[in-house]
Amino acid sequence: MTHSTSRRQMLSQGAALVGAASTGLLLPQSVLAQSGKIRVGFMLPYTGTYAQLGVAIENGVRMAINEQGGKLGGREIEWFKVDDESEPSKGIENANKLVQRDKVDVIIGTVHSGVQMGIHKVARDSGVLSLIPNAGVHAATRALCAPNVFRTSFSNSQPTMALGEAMVKRGHKKAVWITHKYAAGDEAFEGFRDSYTKAGGTIVKELGLPFPNVEFQALLTEIAALKPDAVACFFAGGAAAKFMKDFAAAGLKGKIALYGSGFLTEGVIEAAGPAAEGVMTTLHYADGLDTKRNKDFRLAYAKTFKMQPDVYAVQGYDTGLLLIQGANAVKGDLSQKPALYKAMEGAVIDSPRGKWTMSKAHNPVQDMYLREVVKGENKVLGIAAKALADSGAGCRL
Ligand code: PHB
Repeated sequence: MTHSTSRRQMLSQGAALVGAASTGLLLPQSVLAQSGKIRVGFMLPYTGTYAQLGVAIENGVRMAINEQGGKLGGREIEWFKVDDESEPSKGIENANKLVQRDKVDVIIGTVHSGVQMGIHKVARDSGVLSLIPNAGVHAATRALCAPNVFRTSFSNSQPTMALGEAMVKRGHKKAVWITHKYAAGDEAFEGFRDSYTKAGGTIVKELGLPFPNVEFQALLTEIAALKPDAVACFFAGGAAAKFMKDFAAAGLKGKIALYGSGFLTEGVIEAAGPAAEGVMTTLHYADGLDTKRNKDFRLAYAKTFKMQPDVYAVQGYDTGLLLIQGANAVKGDLSQKPALYKAMEGAVIDSPRGKWTMSKAHNPVQDMYLREVVKGENKVLGIAAKALADSGAGCRL
């Protein structure tokens, strides 16, 4: 440190003390240290198949914080953004842009499970607060769980853990599974396989294609030949809209029942058009949830962003709510880690999806709804699983 910098620092600290003394307050060093803005970094997909998911998440976060005056624990916010392109090979590098270059206090991201593993490594190495607003990769809240990492969305097998039983109850006992082949789809399959086989269903074939490939034709031809009672799948974003359309265009709609992890019909019902009607899914949210909380949220979101909210907007919103609760508990001083984590661990999130709490491993304990697309909306048919928790296997916190 040069003589002039240290002198400047001493002068400014002195000035702060004089200012504090003149108001009758002597501020401790920790208060001086946190008088600047809180630096919040978004690492989300803003291009590619999951682009609209990233936008919805950011909208949701901003909406929650704006509703509470636009500050965190009394401090102003400086925002940073990185487009992760849902590209796992750039995950670490992109997370470091926020953590090392921009020196964010909290990183909010991301959507894609593979990219999340990059963020997760950086979060574990640096200790920066990491809030996961979507990606369900099991490791983040199982074997590799961490005190500074909290998920506000779901674990990949959570939504499908209730799917198999719902299908068998409807008489669909022979199914083909199809997915994008990466952690999200493979872990969603675990939930589906367990619930479907336990309920007495048989999985006749597992099909897949690499993310983000959307050439479904050959696979749909194979499904037509297999003639199962039902198809169950994991697809999201642009790929989900195309899959539903191609399924209908291949003549399978109305002949083979189409089910999915609920992401299949999130944010894409309009794009899929009539192909989405009647599709049944399980998820921790539904447009049609008949609560004041959800209706107020949907109205306010639509007014602000001129578009309908979906599960990703809700997850973003809940991420904002969680961050607010944490920051308020430490009056904006995010360096008070034990108190910050304790507040977030004990948070009850009053979400549009229904109230939820954090599991020990930092993953939501939440209800799963059975939904059906009726007239362009995810209508609630019932609760498929109540207060469902991920196993958190291997997590020691
Ligand atoms: C994931 O990669 O974890 C993922 C992506 C999109 C979804 C759900 C999960 O809708």
